[in-house]
This record gives sequence, structure tokens and C-alpha cells, in this order.
Amino acid sequence: MESIWTEGIEIRKREPLSGDMEVPAVVIGAGIAGILTAYYLKQAGIRTVVLEADRIGSGQTKNTTAKITSQHNQVYSWLIRTFGHRMAEHYASANEAAIGEYERLIQDKGIDCAFGRCPAYLYSRTETESLRREAEAAKSLGITASFGTECELPFPVAGVMGFARQARFHPLKFLAEMAEEVEVYEQTKVLKVEGRRVETARGTVTAEHIVFAAHYPFINVPGYYFARMHQERSYVLALEGAGSYEGMYLGVDQGGLSFRTCADVLLLGGGGHRTGVNKTGAGCRYGMLRGRAQEIYPGCREVSRWSAQDCVTLDGLPYIGRFSRRRPNWYVATGFGKWGMTTAMVAARIVTNLISGRDCPEADIFSPSRHITMQAMKGLFVHGAYTVKGLTKHLLPPGKGRIVLNCPHMGCRLEWNPEEESYDCPCHGSRFDREGRLIDGPAQTDCKRQEERD
Ligand code: FES
Repeated sequence: MESIWTEGIEIRKREPLSGDMEVPAVVIGAGIAGILTAYYLKQAGIRTVVLEADRIGSGQTKNTTAKITSQHNQVYSWLIRTFGHRMAEHYASANEAAIGEYERLIQDKGIDCAFGRCPAYLYSRTETESLRREAEAAKSLGITASFGTECELPFPVAGVMGFARQARFHPLKFLAEMAEEVEVYEQTKVLKVEGRRVETARGTVTAEHIVFAAHYPFINVPGYYFARMHQERSYVLALEGAGSYEGMYLGVDQGGLSFRTCADVLLLGGGGHRTGVNKTGAGCRYGMLRGRAQEIYPGCREVSRWSAQDCVTLDGLPYIGRFSRRRPNWYVATGFGKWGMTTAMVAARIVTNLISGRDCPEADIFSPSRHITMQAMKGLFVHGAYTVKGLTKHLLPPGKGRIVLNCPHMGCRLEWNPEEESYDCPCHGSRFDREGRLIDGPAQTDCKRQEERD
């Protein structure tokens, strides 16, 4: 099922690339990060083209819950402890500025996309102290934050931590308008990138600057992003007859839910798990959400459901900046976690500043080559263990009557996801339909289905 954002939206079709061209900059991926990056580069006087394998906004942008917020779970106390107050301030101000920049663009251009300022909250049914500390940390960085023990949700909470003047909007209505301002080639899949050349089946683009903004970078070396990120899936129900809230909410407890009102519909989210690791059985994730929905809002009606795929980095902060020291003219914007809308704007501003040679003090905290923290080391170990397991399974013969699919990215054994009837890769999160056709990268091709055994 498609998300509610796709209903009634027609983004103007663009022609595929035809032949070769040379431009100052090329962006790979026409989701919100790619389109905003191309827009700001154009504003900086740098002609930029966007190459999109499918259609504008056909990737993860359409699956968001479209919260625009600097409240990224309990990140600020950790940031201050790990990177120091100044770096934490850069992270906070870049994200707060992103909210303001959305508002400015939408007002200046008169974009009708239901943009509205509202508070964002983290809630817990058991915890108070960590939320109280997080509110203090955020305040020390200039964010208008508060802590309390009551909120508008229809169940008791132990603690709730709020940020004022966050925002929500309709992501595809916004994207459709912004895409009108940039040069996009659709149905133009990038096959190879080498030096300044971006090869597609429909021609080559040669560019001084190349930006990878297609969710997960598909180049393995340099950069080694496959070893530094995993992907997670989460699920959303759109409900009628449920509550309507002024604020947006995210539960920080194990199994916590997300609540976000959109006109007369409530988006209830949760049930997240590492992509490729979902053995709960068909209908369990949506089933859990449906159960919770009926418990909290008896008689509510489901009007839509969908799932999202998020890239998560080793330390939880996005990778935005130069792709690798070996490729100084390549840039990357990935690892946005669950904060894709806000981080897309942050990425577009940082990458534009780097390419146009402007001062950008906030770039360091987002840099893909920032120092490795203890948390990142732990993530590296866990991620490595999944990869070794996935590769080892590849070597095992299939069991009786089993279908085996090996991932064309690096060969891990795919796992059947009964919830969504797809084959998912536990190593780096590629996904394929039941016929082995590619749904999500980093794999670039469909996979071959081995013979079924008797
Ligand atoms: Fe990397 Fe499957 S996504 S091996």
C-alpha cells in the first residue's frame, strides 16, 4: 500500500537523459535531499543536473511521516559528552536553521504544502531523569526545550520533553514545487561513477562535482559505507477516528510509538527492526500497531499503511560531506536515520557550501570522516557480525524445499520478510520482491533465484 502523501499527487514527468553532457555539478537521486541540493547549487550559480533511476520522489521521501524537527531522540546530552559543547551546538543550530529554511522557502514561493509549526515531544511511560537531562542539554545549546510529566496523549506518561516551534508538512507537495526549479532526468539509472564521469545507460555526465544523494551510496570503495551503515524498517498506520494532537510525539521506551496528526488522520508509527531481521511472522508488525490503535482509540479506522526504510550510521549521526579523502570532488548525503526531512535540508546546505567554497563550521560534526566514537566501535562490531553471519549462510546449502536468494551486492543470504513479502538482506539492507527484482539498494541489480530443491 502507498503512503497518504502519494494520493492525488502528480509530479511532472521529466525526460530521460539522452546522450552525453558536461556540467559543473551532478546530483544522483531525486528525493528531497537531491532536489534541495540541486536547488541551492543553482542558487549559488552552479549549473547542476539531477539523475534519477525512477521518478522524482519515488524513493524514501514518499514514506516519511514528514516531521521537520531538531529533536532527534535523546541526541544532545550524548553529543555534548562525546564531541563537546561546540560541536553539539553546530548540530543543533544546523537542524534548527533547517526548519526555518523550510518555512522561508515555502512562504517565499507560496508553496501549498500544509506546512505548520508545532511542538515535538519525546515521551516515556517509565523514565523521567534522562528526559529531564536532555531538555537541559538542548536548552544549553539554544533550543527552546521543556520537561513535564503531562501531555495530550490519551495515556499516562512518566515524562515528556518538548521542543517548541518544530514543524510538519506534506513532503511530496513541497517536492513537486521545488523540483520545478531544477534540471532533472528521470528513468536514468547511474551504472558507474569514475573520477568525473557518471555513466548511465542513456549517456554520460561529466562533472567537476558529483553528489551521491540516493539514500544509500552504491559505490563500495572508496568510502566503505557498506561497513558503516545498516538499514532499518518501520511501519505506519494512517487512522481515522483517532486522536488529533497539536504536537508530534515519539516514545523513547522499548517499543515506543510515534504519533503525528495530518488533517483529520493520525499517523501511528512503530514496530521498527533491522532490515533483513524480521522473523515475527506475517502481519505481526502491522498487527501490533493495529492492536495498539484499537486499544488506544477503540473503533478507529485504518485508511492506509506503509513502511519506511532508513539508513543508520555507526554513531547515529548522518554522513554529510566529502565522500572520501581519495575522491575530493565527490560528496555524500546519507545515514539520515529517522530524521530524513530535516537532515535533507541540512545536507543540501552543507554540500552547497562545500562545493561553492563557503565557510561552513557546522560541516565537521556531520563529516563522514569524523572520529570514531566508542558507540561507533560497538556498532562496527555488531554490523560486522551480521555481515559474517549473512555471508556464512550463503555458503550453506539450502534446506529441503527452500528457496535461496543471495544478495547481488556482496553475496549475503537473503531472508524472507513475511510482513512485506520481500527478500531482505540482513547485511546492508537491500530488498527484493518475491521474484528477486530489486526494491531497495545498495544492490544495483536484481538477484538470481536458485533452483528450488525437492
Ligand atoms: Fe550488501 Fe546484501 S546489501 S550483501
